[in-house]
Amino acid sequence: MDKAQILVASNRGPVSFSFGEGDALDYRRGGGGLVSGLSSVASSTDTMWVCAALSDADRAAAARSPEGRLDAAGFDLGGMRVRMLDIPPDTFTDAYTRVANSTLWFVHHMLYDTPNKPRFDAAFRSQWEGFRSYNAAFSEALLTGSADNARVAVQDYHLALVPRMLRQRRPDLRITHFSHTPWAPPEYFRMLPADIRRELLEGMLGADHLGFLSRRWADAFLRCCETFLRVEVDWTRRTVEFGGRVIRTGVHALGADAESLRERAAAADVEQWRARLRERVGDAELVVRVDRTELSKNIVRGLEAFRELLREHPEWRGRVTHLAFAYPSRGDVPEYRDYTEQVQRVAAEIDREFATADWSPLILEVQDDFARSLAAYRMADVLLVNPIRDGMNLVAKEGPVLSDDGCVLVLSSEAGAADELGEDAVLVNPYDVSETAQALRTALEMPADERRARCGRLVDSATALAPTPWFEAQLRALK
Ligand code: G6P
Repeated sequence: MDKAQILVASNRGPVSFSFGEGDALDYRRGGGGLVSGLSSVASSTDTMWVCAALSDADRAAAARSPEGRLDAAGFDLGGMRVRMLDIPPDTFTDAYTRVANSTLWFVHHMLYDTPNKPRFDAAFRSQWEGFRSYNAAFSEALLTGSADNARVAVQDYHLALVPRMLRQRRPDLRITHFSHTPWAPPEYFRMLPADIRRELLEGMLGADHLGFLSRRWADAFLRCCETFLRVEVDWTRRTVEFGGRVIRTGVHALGADAESLRERAAAADVEQWRARLRERVGDAELVVRVDRTELSKNIVRGLEAFRELLREHPEWRGRVTHLAFAYPSRGDVPEYRDYTEQVQRVAAEIDREFATADWSPLILEVQDDFARSLAAYRMADVLLVNPIRDGMNLVAKEGPVLSDDGCVLVLSSEAGAADELGEDAVLVNPYDVSETAQALRTALEMPADERRARCGRLVDSATALAPTPWFEAQLRALK
């Protein structure tokens, strides 16, 4: 097998499989900036993407093509190889469900209800072992698959231990790690056990370069290094010296992929959804949100803000409909299941309180339908993006790009996207339901030409760093 010169590693890969007719495997190419970013590089350089098999069909595909010639199975990823790792189920559950999603995600998004959680006990220690094994499995695949001096782009909190594991065995590799989440401030990160804090930070510092989506998250990481590793941070260069090396940090604010989004949003299935939705809502103004059903997205407070708008400003009853498209996510984490129920409960309450024979205040769908979401972006008068904390939030960038007639963005100040979009959005404190209700009203009442002008500027900022230059910047940081 040829060794790759550029490697990407992430838990969720660029493609997912499902069982088709007979023994055929169907595949679906994933969305997201990384897939488009790497695909454009892949045609000119030998590249490989290492990811975890996430379903039985993925495992079947991995077994058919253990060396990562999945592309030869007939799907087009611009020539890159994909190596799917068949991680033993228990190890995967410990690593992905327990440590990554129920612990690290909660820490970085500051989601804990602290009287009960987190609790670091013997069970957690054993899950942590699983997390190490999972990181080791990725490292092995990267070590085996990489040419001398290859560049390796490790993605996200799932793989925080990989850079150090690689560095110890292959100092020739040039390694970057990119965080797609926020980073917790030391005051919150300190709730992790001392040895685990250290292992995570030292794991990341195995890289040459650490990328973040916002200056805020990069600085939080550096402050954690100062606090818990007692290392010197050069705050002018934003570097840290560790193990005799200087590790650089960088901020690469991923933007929307305008061209491919617009192309996709012009397709017939999106048009059909647009017609169907319009028929359903009539000429009501539309407040739209699209998220994974995810605790950090703050869907419940968003619904409550909409309810407060209708309670306090009855003139809006009958004239506005909220489309809330929340697609299922991480159903194996109990907190997510409870949260989904809570979202449905509050939505039902709003419906009971306000619905009339000829007006639905709210249409909530807990189901994934990309074409329907794109149709909603096109139609939105107001786009509500109010996460408690978010690395970037691409909905805030993609929505304005697709808006047919200019939408107003109501945006949480705690999303990384607020760095670029803050001036032209209506910013809110995500915990402040009343402020959010007021922001929805301001947005709905904004004159059409101001709406359009602001939306035009949002699009400029949202597309400033498209996925291809975003990914190239990470690679360039390794030269
Ligand atoms: C966030 C993370 C990604 C992750 C995505 C979906 O954006 O930063 O790494 O892939 O959520 O979550 P999931 O657990 O379904 O992969």
